Order: sequence, then C-alpha cells, then structure tokens
Amino acid sequence: MDNTPNSLEEQWMPFTPNREFKNEPRLVVKSAGVHMWSHSGSKVLDGSSGLFCVPAGHGRKEIADAVHQQLLTNDYTAPFNLGHAGSFELARKVAKLLPESLNHVFFCNSGSESIDTALKIAMAYHGARGDYQRLRYVSRERAYHGVNIGGVSLSGMVKNRDTFPVVMPYILTLRHTWLEENRFQRGQAEHGADLANDLQRMVDTYGGQTIAAVFVEPVAGSTGCLVPPKGYLERLREICDANGILLVFDEVITGFGRIGGPFAAQVFGVTPDIITMAKALTNGCQPMGAVGVSDAVYETVVDGAPDGAIEFFHGYTYSGHPASCAAGNATLDIFENESLFERAAGLSEYFLDAVYGLRDIDLISDIRGIGFLAAIDVKPGKKPGQRGGAIQKQLFVNGMHVKFTGDSGILAPQFIVEKDHIDEMIAILRETLGAQS
Ligand SMILES: Cc1ncc(COP(=O)(O)O)c(C=O)c1O
Repeated sequence: MDNTPNSLEEQWMPFTPNREFKNEPRLVVKSAGVHMWSHSGSKVLDGSSGLFCVPAGHGRKEIADAVHQQLLTNDYTAPFNLGHAGSFELARKVAKLLPESLNHVFFCNSGSESIDTALKIAMAYHGARGDYQRLRYVSRERAYHGVNIGGVSLSGMVKNRDTFPVVMPYILTLRHTWLEENRFQRGQAEHGADLANDLQRMVDTYGGQTIAAVFVEPVAGSTGCLVPPKGYLERLREICDANGILLVFDEVITGFGRIGGPFAAQVFGVTPDIITMAKALTNGCQPMGAVGVSDAVYETVVDGAPDGAIEFFHGYTYSGHPASCAAGNATLDIFENESLFERAAGLSEYFLDAVYGLRDIDLISDIRGIGFLAAIDVKPGKKPGQRGGAIQKQLFVNGMHVKFTGDSGILAPQFIVEKDHIDEMIAILRETLGAQS
C-alpha cells in the first residue's frame, strides 16, 4: 500500500513534534471499522477512537453517502438570515439526547469554538439580565477546553497556556480532582467531594455576584480521565444555584455515549445550564461543534431582545454547514438504530475489568476509568511526557493507536468493538508496557 506525499516539509503539524515526526512519519492510508492501515502496510487497532471522535467505527457508508448526497443537492447555505432543513433536524435530534431542560442548540465547527460560544452565551445571558458585574469565570486545574483564546484562558493544562501570555483576565481556578488516595479507583471515588468547596471559597472571597460561570469537564478527558468524586458535581451545582452562577459542562469527549449515557450530565444526575459538544457528533467525519443551552438561558437572551433585533451577535460562516449536518444526522441515526450507547454501556464492565487487569505491570502508576473511557498513567522517565511519548510510538509499531497526554495513555474504544478487540488492545498494551518495565 503506497500513499506517501512528495514532501512533509510544508505542513506545520498541530500538537506534534514536527522535526521528530517528519524524520519518522506515521501516515494513515486507510481506515475501516476499528482499524487503520499505515503507509508501511501495518494494520493498527484504533484504541482511542481517533481522538475520541469515531465511536461508530471508521468508514461508515451511511455517513459518507449522506455527505455526498448533501453536497450534490445543496452544498452550502449562508447561516445568517437563511436556513436549511438539516440543521434544524440535527438540533432537534441533539436536544432529544440532552437533559430535559436543555432544548436549544447553537452550531459551530469544533470543540474549541463550542467553548468560546459558551463563554459568549454566558456573557449574553448575564448582560440580558442587566447583571454586568459578573466578570469572573471559573475553571479547573488540568482542564482542557480547546485552543481558542477563550479555551486557552480556561485551560488548566499549563503547557497550553504558558506560551500564550494574552488571555482573558479574571479567571479563577479550582483544584483538580486527582487524589493520591484514589489511585486505581474505578468509577467515582468516595473521597474528594469537598474539593468543590473551592468554589465556595471563591464566592466568599470575591462575591458570588461577580462570577458569571463555572466551566468543568464532568470527567476531565484529555488530561487522562479524571472521574469526579461522588457528590462533587452536585456540590458545584448547589453553589452555582445559590449564587446565580451558570454551570457549563464541557462534554466534547463525554458527550454521545462515552461514559454510559447520552451525556455525562445524565450519568451523574447533575444538570448544567450549558453543555458543549463536538467530536462524536459527526463520528469524526465532518468538523462540527455545538452548544446545548437551557430553556431559561435561551429565553433570557432571545425573548429579552427587542422585536426584529439580532439577539446574539455571534455565529460562524460554517455554523450548521449542510455537509456537517448531514454527517451529524446520519451519525445520530446510527447511534439510535444500532443502540450504540447501550452497546458501549453493556461492554463497559468487560473493558474496565480488562484495563484494571494491567495493574500488576510495574511501570503503571495509576489507572482510572468509567464507561468506555480509561487512562493508564506510566511512571515518568527523565522528563515528564518522555516515556509516554516513547510508549505511544511503540504501541503504534506494535499495532495500536492510543492518544497520550504526557505520561497518560487514554483508551476510548469504538462502540462497535467486539470483546476480541478489547482482548487484543490489552495484549498489545501488556506486551508494550511489559517490555518497557
Ligand atoms: C473537553 C474538551 N473540550 C474542548 C476540546 C477542543 O475540541 P477541538 O479540538 O475540536 O477544538 C477538546 C478536544 O479534545 C476537549 O477534549
């Protein structure tokens, strides 16, 4: 199989050590089902659903056909003051999956844009109420909220922020929820709910009336699957309610069935005011993000504006792009027709048993997991991330793709996997990690 480009030099690759990669490239020439094929002809199991975005499997014909047909029928409709049926239909389907009180959906093109959109919605909401002193936004250590300036401002992953000195002011940061005593915890830990009282301290220090919104990933994903301790999200909700603060769940990874329900909000029984999403919305086939908004927030902004006025001065050229909507509609149909959320939830115990079975490997310092998402921390090498990077490369050589953040490997099988595939993932991990111990 030969499908190599003439030159690797011109493209500046994202989040990649460019010089190293270009010396030793790993190119994918084909993907189908739970596998990818590299330019050297090797078959690679996709252990992280790409970047957590391909749960229905690679190469879904229904999605490809829907996009193809859409482009032939109506390739583009300007989204301001014009519309097309596909975006309304997709909003309806997404709203059906969201918690009961979130019935409105704003479209954008990525997870990063969904965060900046959610920030602006929070500003518009408080503005519509005449509440102009709420300038502070709360985030959390180890949070990943994408790469736009809003998301970078909220970032709790230090490297994503320290190169970029111009960020939003007035950001407050909660402590992260990883606790030494919860090492190798499966699902939610008993200990740690009190970490949510950081928010109460901010309220006591700065005044709840100065805080606009709290952004958290219900399960912190990119940093390596930090599952919230029992009672933690409930406590955040309680403090937000007592102080008129909006609660935003960033569900870019956890949305669409990843942790055992449509959204983490339903799994944990805590309803935020706003939910951001992207990735699995189109099964990774078209760039798309979205923001789910509660009736109360939507009505405050939209119904509060004068007749005929644009209520929310925000939108993208590609908001609700017809091809992305076609991919989204086809994807959500697949999820429903094949009961894929239920399938993933049903296989979760098998998956987690298998992952936690690796605990005896000396190199592993922690394992965390919930639903169809798990992280394995390896003991750091000389520099943080060095060993994780080396293992990620070796895993690919040994036949599996795993997304690593530093020394944390994040596993997110596709919802179509069979038990055999999980066994194969674990065997490759054992072989690779065992050899490095
Ligand atoms: C929780 C979370 N928010 C936001 C983003 C950013 O999404 P994107 O890369 O589509 O901009 C990600 C990406 O991994 C994410 O995990």
